[in-house]
Amino acid sequence: MEIWDDLESTYINRTATSKERYDEIQSHVPAGVASTYRAWDPHPFVVDRAEGVHLHDVDDNSYLDFDMNNGAGMVGHTHPAVTEAIKSQLDNGTLFTHPHNLLAEAAKELKKRWDPVDLVRFTNSGTESTMHAIRTARAYTGKDKLLKIEGSYHGVHDAVLISKSTPKGKLGHPERPAKVIESDGVPEAIADTVEIAPWNDLDAIEEIMRNHVNEIGALIVEPIVMNVGVTQPYKEFLQGLRELCDEYGIVYIFDEVKTGVKVAPGGATEYYDVEPDLVAMAKSIGGNYPVGAFGGREEVMRTIENGAAHFGTYNGNPLVLRAVTTVLRDVLTDDAYQHVNDLGEKLAAGYEEIMTDAGITGHVKNVNSQGIVHFTDERVNNYREYLEHIDEEFHENYWFAMLNQGVLPHPHHASQQWTISVQHEEEHIDEHLEAFKNIAPRLAEQQ
Ligand SMILES: Cc1ncc(COP(=O)(O)O)c(C=O)c1O
Repeated sequence: MEIWDDLESTYINRTATSKERYDEIQSHVPAGVASTYRAWDPHPFVVDRAEGVHLHDVDDNSYLDFDMNNGAGMVGHTHPAVTEAIKSQLDNGTLFTHPHNLLAEAAKELKKRWDPVDLVRFTNSGTESTMHAIRTARAYTGKDKLLKIEGSYHGVHDAVLISKSTPKGKLGHPERPAKVIESDGVPEAIADTVEIAPWNDLDAIEEIMRNHVNEIGALIVEPIVMNVGVTQPYKEFLQGLRELCDEYGIVYIFDEVKTGVKVAPGGATEYYDVEPDLVAMAKSIGGNYPVGAFGGREEVMRTIENGAAHFGTYNGNPLVLRAVTTVLRDVLTDDAYQHVNDLGEKLAAGYEEIMTDAGITGHVKNVNSQGIVHFTDERVNNYREYLEHIDEEFHENYWFAMLNQGVLPHPHHASQQWTISVQHEEEHIDEHLEAFKNIAPRLAEQQ
């Protein structure tokens, strides 16, 4: 992607030490990062430390952070209550490969938030959570095929690395999207175990379910397609899927890795008042500690006691479960939700106003603490519309222009969204908007 010359040179000048360190890291670590999406041109800044709502890089730049670890940090960085809880656990053991009380304590907190969840198992990441939810669903139904939405991201296990970012020329029919394997090393045979469906099209999905009635055992959806620019479901879509899953004997899985505890205390399940059979969780339930979970209806979850494998040395370790219980009991309180939701509205309204004043074509898509600006009049309702209407290169320039002013508006890439944490305050929203206001005339001119 082409970054405007002055933006690129400013960024390069600000991050000279990052460049040196990044070159060194690259000689030891492929692409110089621990997760490949974190590598971007000309080079990512290298983090020195984080505190509150700020990241600090090795050049001593600080960034007002709305990326928040790709949405894992709704509590903000180094939240004192979470840090205290972790410190107190350090002296009592960080890993028990035997049952311990925190398993029940943390599970109870999740169950309070998710009505459809009777039983919970813990994992170490979102990838593991969706992988195990899918396996449990297949085991329960005895049907091998997974139905997945075109463009949606559910982590990096083989079954979900299909048709996540299909290029324009390979999309196939809108009602019957093509299966495109995303990564070398994923066997072709995996595609035979997956069907791909369009988002927001109940009729097309019903037809796929009917055509594979004795084959599809699991449907996984991200109830708001966060990785396609906060794409919400049409009214009745999620409930419609519930009814179709009942009719065709399919386990309905919500991937709430990103939406969970962020769009509402009980995630999108609460926000849309729809009952999935299983829910996959991770990220913000753990306040920046590496933890995931999946849970759901008792009858489905008991499959784990009767044949569906779920093992893991680090699963449910007391260190991360102390983080989970502290986050859910003490940090993400009703007042905290009121606070982030108010700030979310302020940020969205501020963007809209600045765009109108500057003559920028665009709009904000937001749900409480989550949001994104799209520089187009067209509202994106699915992956294909995203491909058609979002100018990723233009967005990249907006992103660098913000970064150069010390504001990290969201994770790198136009498909991503901001997270407002409990540690953000009005002044941080003002600072974010001030940075946007500064670049608005330039964006208007270039658009
Ligand atoms: C919706 C969704 N599901 C699953 C995952 C995978 O989670 P993790 O990166 O913890 O493996 C992600 C990560 O961004 C995600 O956004």
